[in-house]
Amino acid sequence: MAHLNDHYFKLAAGYLFPEIARRVREYAANHPKKAERIIRCGIGDVTEPLPAAVIKALHKAVDEMAVRESFRGYGPEQGYPFLREAISQHDYQSHGIAISAEEIFVSDGSKCDTGNILDILGPGNRIGVADPVYPVYVDTNVMAGNTGPASLGGSYEGLIYLPCVAQNGFVPEPPPGQPLDVVYLCFPNNPTGATATRHQLETWVEYAIRNETLLLFDAAYEAFIQTPGVPHSIYEIPGAERCSIEFRSFSKNGGFTGLRCAYSVVPRELTMRDGAGEARPVHPLWLRRSTTKFNGVSYPVQRAAEALYSPEGMSQVGELVKFYMENAAILRAALSQSGLSVFGGIDAPYLWVHGPSNLSSWEIFDRILNEVQVVVTPGSGFGAAGEGYFRVSAFNSRQNVEEAGCRLAGMSW
Ligand code: MLT
Repeated sequence: MAHLNDHYFKLAAGYLFPEIARRVREYAANHPKKAERIIRCGIGDVTEPLPAAVIKALHKAVDEMAVRESFRGYGPEQGYPFLREAISQHDYQSHGIAISAEEIFVSDGSKCDTGNILDILGPGNRIGVADPVYPVYVDTNVMAGNTGPASLGGSYEGLIYLPCVAQNGFVPEPPPGQPLDVVYLCFPNNPTGATATRHQLETWVEYAIRNETLLLFDAAYEAFIQTPGVPHSIYEIPGAERCSIEFRSFSKNGGFTGLRCAYSVVPRELTMRDGAGEARPVHPLWLRRSTTKFNGVSYPVQRAAEALYSPEGMSQVGELVKFYMENAAILRAALSQSGLSVFGGIDAPYLWVHGPSNLSSWEIFDRILNEVQVVVTPGSGFGAAGEGYFRVSAFNSRQNVEEAGCRLAGMSW
């Protein structure tokens, strides 16, 4: 008899965003007159068309596929050299960071990368996650059998939760006591929109080197940083190449949520211990995993991603980022007007809002949906420390953002 992976039965609820979509569908079905007023500021999905440079590159690559001489079949699993070179040049070397093209692995998304990385980690690691947290880090560890069951509050036994609250600026600190083996960090943060200072990241890198901790650094939102001096990459911190894997994505800066392209960086210097206690390089394992389980991102999509680094592409990405950050400013002003405490939205396209203390996150979600037909994400969906908060995404059309802002500003709490 075939057996299922029982760890899946530990998952406390459906994945957060499908669950929100289900509740919104149910609301729309029960309130057909209100359904067309619904504005979705829940999931962070881009709304604006792809940059013109991307469309041009896609057309050209598709035409190449139509001709025998330029047709491409399987590409290198870890990405075409033209894209890996462009990434290493523009995202790292031009910023004084010595990450080479061979250390870049092109993929179809950071959600996949941050989940798949568990393939190369052994059992028994002490794993630290922020609370609140992007749910993929937690759920993939549950699926991989790295946790015990969920508690009533939704936290999983075996994971070490690092509380991110207003008092620490939503930036987790290395915990006292037994060191962690693996820590997920995400800056600019999803869901809180917080950023970490250079000093805070130096503290983490110093901790990781001292304790042989692996830092899994998710920088999917780095393009949205506006404040000078805020680090865009963990590799800006000396020594990080010995203890960190970085994940980046074209989803939000280039509008690729539907096109799919991202990358992970696994430095050659990064080592971890094998079961016998010997320090071994991580790069060959991730390469082995990629070449075995993945056939690479399609050629036209990689050409499209390359186009983001052309002079036109970079300026068009700049426009997109500016547009969404203006949205964030509109929403921030509107939510502040309603008297709530608003965080984020300055260096990230997410606003993290504390609701009135007598309401739970899901009660706030219901109230906003029922009263003004705006969809937000309940903070408790990101972890117990998110209870009482809600997240508002700035990824939307200007018209929708202005309308949602007006409605949210007018709510009396
Ligand atoms: C979010 O809303 O948190 C993101 O869209 C999720 C993702 O990028 O997978």
